[in-house]
Amino acid sequence: MNPIPELRNYWMPFTANRYFKTHPLLLEGARGMYYQDQHGRQILDGIAGLWCCNAGHCHPQITAAIQAQAGRLDYATAFQLGHPGAFELATRLADLAPAGLDHVFFTNSGSEAVDTALKIARAFHQRNGEPQRTRLVGRQRGYHGVGFGGISVGGIEANRRLFGPLLPDVEHLSSTHLPERNAFSRGQPEHGVELADELADMIASGEPDTIAAVIVEPVAGSAGVLVPPAGYLQRLRELCDRHGILLIFDEVITGLGRLGSATAADYFGVRPDLMTLAKALTNGTVPMGAVLVDGRIHEGFMQGPEQAIELFHGYTYSGHPLAAAAALASLDVYADEGLFARARELAPIFEQALHQLAGAPHVIDVRNLGLMGAIELEPRADAPTQRAQAVFREAFERGILIRTTADTIALTPPLIISEAQIGQIVETLQGILQRVD
Ligand SMILES: Cc1ncc(COP(=O)(O)O)c(C=O)c1O
Repeated sequence: MNPIPELRNYWMPFTANRYFKTHPLLLEGARGMYYQDQHGRQILDGIAGLWCCNAGHCHPQITAAIQAQAGRLDYATAFQLGHPGAFELATRLADLAPAGLDHVFFTNSGSEAVDTALKIARAFHQRNGEPQRTRLVGRQRGYHGVGFGGISVGGIEANRRLFGPLLPDVEHLSSTHLPERNAFSRGQPEHGVELADELADMIASGEPDTIAAVIVEPVAGSAGVLVPPAGYLQRLRELCDRHGILLIFDEVITGLGRLGSATAADYFGVRPDLMTLAKALTNGTVPMGAVLVDGRIHEGFMQGPEQAIELFHGYTYSGHPLAAAAALASLDVYADEGLFARARELAPIFEQALHQLAGAPHVIDVRNLGLMGAIELEPRADAPTQRAQAVFREAFERGILIRTTADTIALTPPLIISEAQIGQIVETLQGILQRVD
């Protein structure tokens, strides 16, 4: 066992710091489907790190690409200069994205990608002669990162509560989660398409033509895998088209294979105007996000004097050479190993396995799509979240990494997971749920 480092100074994100520091869990290595913890134990990764590592950990091809890049060109500003990797990556992403989403703005995280997409949407309307279009529409239980833009359009109350006035002109659609009608749905739930019509009410309730954009996760991830009802995203698209509103898909989780297709837009056959990516973009190795932008929107900015900056926005590390190298290598690995197809083939097996937990103690819902799954537990009457926390700790003890949000267990394994490993995760959870109080 390696010595535990001093823990006091690191203020950990989204963590119960005081509890953690008396019960630390430290990861020291990783390869393929497994982490290695501070005791040298192998931990099967049921959540791809944090919905990131779709090709598994420390993939030699990705590691080598990052190492080589670090020795060749460590950093290059993206302001008025470029390096080949960022351009090559933009081309590769445009090829992979739904037709028309052919311009790419690089960021360093999903949160920044979201804020960038919201800004591009508002700025586009300004430049397009509709400056009154400033309203933004998000959705209850949506997660769009932690920037002020993201928490404004996001709908997770705890993430908004302490931070004072957020962006004005933001409204939220209802969550599509309808447990009383759709519990234990396999794949897309049947009920709830009409929830998209709330957008029509919002359009009607304000001044005409004042909504800039609607942003949704095609499948809400962080709130506990909330799968959209059949027809819902199509209806949002129709309403946006009819009323000149931009549709943003936040594909930070669903992008790059999670549903067995390059993007959720492909999976659902619904094309957004802007799309965010992050996480699996570099297989989780180097921070990077991206916004894919429809050609018509991009064209709206490419006006006026040629030497004028078109968008006053960007990051010191936009298109960072190491991140670009990691992303290019990740896209190669996804293609060479056929990982999106693999996820598609595994999805029914994953679904079947997860729904075996439907009758286990405390389970009040099981949901799934592609390689995204959730098992929702009845909260303890006096202590919400604690039952799921106990399952998380016990699973770790038994060598399985899961994720919990409130009382929902999320499973989102690397796309390289085997059938036997899916079985092992479900069997371990079955055993834990029999025992946990
Ligand atoms: C849908 C979605 N958008 C945005 C984000 C924020 O990404 P980041 O944590 O890289 O800022 C996340 C993170 O989980 C996410 O799931």
